[in-house]
Amino acid sequence: MASTGISVSQAELEANKGKESVPEPCIVVIFGASGDLTKRKLLPALYHLEQQNLLPEKFAVVGVARRDLSATFAPDMKDGIVKGGGVDEKEEKLGKFVDRILYFKTEFDNDEGFEGLKNFLAEQDGKFGTNGNRLFYLAVAPEYFADITQRLGKHGMTKHEGEGWVRFIIEKPFGTDLESAKKLNTEINAVLHEDQIFRIDHYLGKETVQNIPVFRFGNSIFEPLWNRHYIDSVQITAAESIGIEGRGPFYEAAGALRDVLQNHVMEVLSFVAMEPPDSFESSAVRVEKLKVWKAIEAIPVTDTARGQYGPGTVDGQQVKGYREEDRVSPESQTETFAAMKLNIDNWRWAGVPFYIRAAKRLQTRVTEVVITFKQPPLHMFKASADADEKQLEPNVLTLRIQPEDGISLKFGAKIPGPTTNLAQVKMNFSYADVFGKSSANGYERLLLDAMLGDGTLFAEGAGVEATWALMTPVLEAWKQQQNEFPNYAAGSWGPAEADELLGRDGRSWQN
Ligand code: BG6
Repeated sequence: MASTGISVSQAELEANKGKESVPEPCIVVIFGASGDLTKRKLLPALYHLEQQNLLPEKFAVVGVARRDLSATFAPDMKDGIVKGGGVDEKEEKLGKFVDRILYFKTEFDNDEGFEGLKNFLAEQDGKFGTNGNRLFYLAVAPEYFADITQRLGKHGMTKHEGEGWVRFIIEKPFGTDLESAKKLNTEINAVLHEDQIFRIDHYLGKETVQNIPVFRFGNSIFEPLWNRHYIDSVQITAAESIGIEGRGPFYEAAGALRDVLQNHVMEVLSFVAMEPPDSFESSAVRVEKLKVWKAIEAIPVTDTARGQYGPGTVDGQQVKGYREEDRVSPESQTETFAAMKLNIDNWRWAGVPFYIRAAKRLQTRVTEVVITFKQPPLHMFKASADADEKQLEPNVLTLRIQPEDGISLKFGAKIPGPTTNLAQVKMNFSYADVFGKSSANGYERLLLDAMLGDGTLFAEGAGVEATWALMTPVLEAWKQQQNEFPNYAAGSWGPAEADELLGRDGRSWQN
């Protein structure tokens, strides 16, 4: 598809550089450092920050895990940076960066180990000049979040002695339902102040997600139309063509709702639906997001659809069904597809359905927000000589989060010639065409913000509880159902139930 020819000059891009803030000296301490996330995402993200001179000079990374990895940790992380981060292994900066990657072994319930960690970190402060500032990253299974935080508290590591800071990034999933999320909030808040806690949702680190409020509130064209008077419906899709990638035990307990819908999709939805905040400060944005989630009506189970993939073909490859995946029950009732219709009961959105879905093993990978506008009040034109005027397609604005990030607007244009018939045409803005390809994976921006103490792009306790309050009754209702799974083939667009969900309203998914 042709781009619009919008261009941003190199000078403009360059002028934007060097304006970013650089965090104070600090140590990033990653718990659960032997896991995949550290190697594949976190270290490449930290190194990309280093490449852009966005890390403080006085800086170190300490991986903490239960296995003895002292000899292999740093080279293994280097490998992750080179392969996962697309970095040339001979880059001069890389060697210096790897010298600042350290490892500490401890069990997570061992007081001696935690005392040892405290001394180890103090030693690194002496060596690297990091001044006691810490960013703890809990990349561990959720059952360890509270324990680790409390034990760090017990050993005096949750507060800075004197000036400086100690912050915590907590990975998702934050709880598995409302009750567990509340419990976790209480346990963590007993040791940490809310402004020390950064609940990460890597979707908020994606440029295209951040661009949603910019698109709405930094321009004057669309916001006057952004309401029930002009918008017919909204769809948010997080479709993946990959399966569960060996994460059987995790996914069996999670499913598509807990894994993606409750967090990534609901975060995107809040940006699409929120009122303009007073400023783009963390507290102002959080208030508006919370209002959106709280205004969503209770979700009847009849407004939901779930599915599980069976064998099929994805990208020309024959793939297994979910129940045949490694460490998955052959009778599994876990959903790999979750969809629902949400009604936001407020002045702006009353009567505008939001259809959301998240799934594995669909035909293609695409995350996007599709805004369908209402039809004009009078139908004067036709799509073709024999068509009915009413068959004209509505205007559709698509905010494409990934891949091929961009924004497109579909509208009708006159087909040249002596008739006045309309064809649908598209205006398209592609991030890559205008700004070049970005290697950012979402974690860069969020790690940087946490080091800077800016929580705008992180979930807060009340917000997490609000989304769980909506989703928990759905999960409970689903638990009572016995489904005829699998009910969609890998490589398709999901189960018939999901199509019926929109079909009942005279609409269909944008696939
Ligand atoms: C993670 C989920 O949070 O997000 C994964 O646990 C999912 O199951 C992933 O694949 C999707 O992230 P992205 O950035 O690839 O869209």
